[in-house]
Formats: sequence, C-alpha cells, structure tokens
Amino acid sequence: MNILEVMRVGPVIPVLVIEDLAQAVPLAQALVAGGVRVLEVTLRTSVALAAIRAIAREVPEVIVGVGTLIRPEDFTEARDAGARFGVSPGLTPALIAAARDSDLPLLPGVMTPSEVMTARAAGFHQLKLFPAQPAGGIDLLKALAGPFPDVTFCPTGGITAETAPDYLTLPNVGCVGGSWLTPKTELAAEDWSVITALARQAAALDRRKVTGFTDSSPVTGA
Ligand code: 3PG
Repeated sequence: MNILEVMRVGPVIPVLVIEDLAQAVPLAQALVAGGVRVLEVTLRTSVALAAIRAIAREVPEVIVGVGTLIRPEDFTEARDAGARFGVSPGLTPALIAAARDSDLPLLPGVMTPSEVMTARAAGFHQLKLFPAQPAGGIDLLKALAGPFPDVTFCPTGGITAETAPDYLTLPNVGCVGGSWLTPKTELAAEDWSVITALARQAAALDRRKVTGFTDSSPVTGA
C-alpha cells in the first residue's frame, strides 16, 4: 500500500499519543467502531512501538502508521513493529536516504515552498503540511496549488472537527490529520463511546469535491 492509497482510505488520519500501552488496542477498536481505518501512532512516548505492535497484531482491520518519525533508524523499528506507513514532521537528507532504503512508505512533512520543492525533487508528491493551521492553513494550501499542481497534501496541526470540512473541500487536500478524535480527558477516562462518536463524525466527512478521492479517476500527483 502506498501513501496515496493510505490517504484514500478515509478523510481523517487520527494522530495518537499513547502513554498507556493497555489503552492501545481498545483505542484502535473504538476508532474502527466509528469507521476510521487508518491511524498514526506518534513516537513520542516510551510505549509507542509496543502500541504499534499491539494494534497491528490485535486489530488487523486497522492500517497503523508511525508518526513523529525523525531518526533514520525509526524506519526499521516501526516496520518491524508492524507499521504500514510513516509520517514525519519534516524532511532531512538522512530521512530521504532512509526512506529510499526502506519499504515503509513515507508521508513527509513540509511547511514552505522550498520544502515542497525539496520533497518533490526526492520523489515525494503526497506531503503532510505541518503545522497546517499556524503555517497559513487554507490560504496557504490555495497558494501552493498554483506552483505545485502535482502535490496532494495531508494538512495536520491545529485542525479541528469544525475546520476539517473546509480543508477537505480543497482540490489539493486528500485527507487531514489531527488529534481531536482523542481528547485527553476522554482518553484518560477511557470513554471509548465518545471516541467512537468522534471517529464516526470524522469518517463521514465529505470528500466529494476532492478530485480523485471518491471516484476512480486519477489523482493529482499519482
Ligand atoms: C501533532 O503533531 O501532534 C499533529 O500534527 C496533531 O496536531 P493537532 O494536535 O494540532 O491536531
């Protein structure tokens, strides 16, 4: 499965910070129950790789990705744990080389036109815009569409249930990422029904206006 196929699965990729390993599987199950099949576990906690391993093994209907992938060695560790794709907040020469050596597809982060150009030159045409909202949000994405018609973005960072629909109307946005599906209070309380409801709402977001994502026509940047 390549990054474009990952982006096509659903309109929202939840970004997860898992502190308690015991929550990994019920959290993934709660998201699946709401119709979310792709998720990203960030490498920001000591249990992140174990959480990826548990989700990959026990919730096989989920396509689990690894986020906050910053070190080249993260590719191998995450791949071995069962991650199916990787997401990085930015892109370095070392990450480009590691991605070339790995069969873990990478969604690299960019924030400026120069970074888009670097990523394209390295062969990446599906990019995470990060941090999307502080960087300029919808206006920035509209401005990037002119010079970079062959790039499809997954904006992430500062997006909410309220703003996600507007992002998803943009032709150069394939999906969005965000942490709003897992509010800290509900996660701490293990209130899985709230997380399932948020997932259901996210999975139902409309992408009909996004060329190529809900029909069989070729997608920009494919
Ligand atoms: C992150 O890096 O935490 C993700 O981009 C999610 O950002 P958000 O918490 O603003 O949705």
